[in-house]
Amino acid sequence: MKHFNAVARVPGDPILGLMEAYRADPNPAKLDLGVGVYKDAQGLTPIPRAVKLAEQRLIDSETTKTYVGGHGDAAFGSLLATLVLGKGSPLLADGRAGATQTPGGTGALRLAGDFIAHCLPHRTIWLSDPTWPIHETLFTEAGLRVKHYPYVGRDNRLDVEAMIAALSHVPAGDVVLLHACCHNPTGFDLDQDDWRRVLEVIKARELLPLIDFAYQGFGDGLEEDAFAVRLFAEALPELLITSSCSKNFGLYRERTGALIVCAHDAEKLTDVRSQLASLARNLWSTPPAHGAAVVATILGDAELKALWQDELDAMRRRVAELRVGLVQALEPHGLHQRFAHIARQRGMFSYTGLTADQVARLRDEFSVYLVGSGRANVAGIDANRIDDLAKAIATVCAT
Ligand code: LMR
Repeated sequence: MKHFNAVARVPGDPILGLMEAYRADPNPAKLDLGVGVYKDAQGLTPIPRAVKLAEQRLIDSETTKTYVGGHGDAAFGSLLATLVLGKGSPLLADGRAGATQTPGGTGALRLAGDFIAHCLPHRTIWLSDPTWPIHETLFTEAGLRVKHYPYVGRDNRLDVEAMIAALSHVPAGDVVLLHACCHNPTGFDLDQDDWRRVLEVIKARELLPLIDFAYQGFGDGLEEDAFAVRLFAEALPELLITSSCSKNFGLYRERTGALIVCAHDAEKLTDVRSQLASLARNLWSTPPAHGAAVVATILGDAELKALWQDELDAMRRRVAELRVGLVQALEPHGLHQRFAHIARQRGMFSYTGLTADQVARLRDEFSVYLVGSGRANVAGIDANRIDDLAKAIATVCAT
């Protein structure tokens, strides 16, 4: 008997598959605007100096490789929760918020999905349309029913009114996933007034927000990007937040993140956390230690933290400059109006509005890699080749 005979082949991941296709492309002029990783002026995804220094310290001081426990590294959890919720957060002072370390932000999302499926049964999770494709599959795999609220329409514009109108009809108790900043894949974010309006609907409908916070520091700054998270945390009795250290600490492959739970009191937080540890035990047992130890070392040391913040600021500034540079480079082709939104947005991603055919032509004719949805990782642009990129875009837009 051939046990695997009935196993069908599934298509590769639409985002990670691009990384492989890009690596295999022999064209020296290739450009990777696919997977969401930051790239420097040399086209490398650097290890921040603060991370290198922290790693050196850890190598010298680490005395054990024993398990870190169900919630992970306690120092990491406490420092990361403070970074997310703010230094003076009353939730932290009252013991109403706690972080469970997870393998990356994706692990945090999966843990949240399993928690909802096990402990809050029959709740639907509502995702923005569009959203990161893994949100769709991950929550379905966790056993949740997935529905959508409108976010960015076919005209490639943020439609806050449609979003709010749709959320106003979501059944009480359902879960709503929101992107704290740097919306993936569109790059369109809510402004502060929009967030306040969304909060009112969430309160009125008694919904549970799950805020995906994967890009803290890549939008307007570490504190500024936490606006919605902190607004919701202070106004609502309960909240789930997934935090990722992949991008802001450059720790992508170290799989470092956390699920932060805010509960209405410390007792209930302990109940929820007991469930999370139990669910995590069946997912990954205990989380990987290294990345979290690096983050804890940096956030726990004033000098390393200042260095890291400078490096993060530089990454954010570079992406903002690339955004403006691309729109300027499109001007001679008469395309600057069409793509003007790219310069106004923040973070790594922009929905370009390019069609799947245009994206395919960019890849086949120019070795420029974007996600099929037309999402570009602006952080992947080579500033020295921005005119070539603009020319390639103009070519596929012209025909
Ligand atoms: C992306 O959206 O490109 C990143 O978040 C990487 C990933 O895991 O998909």
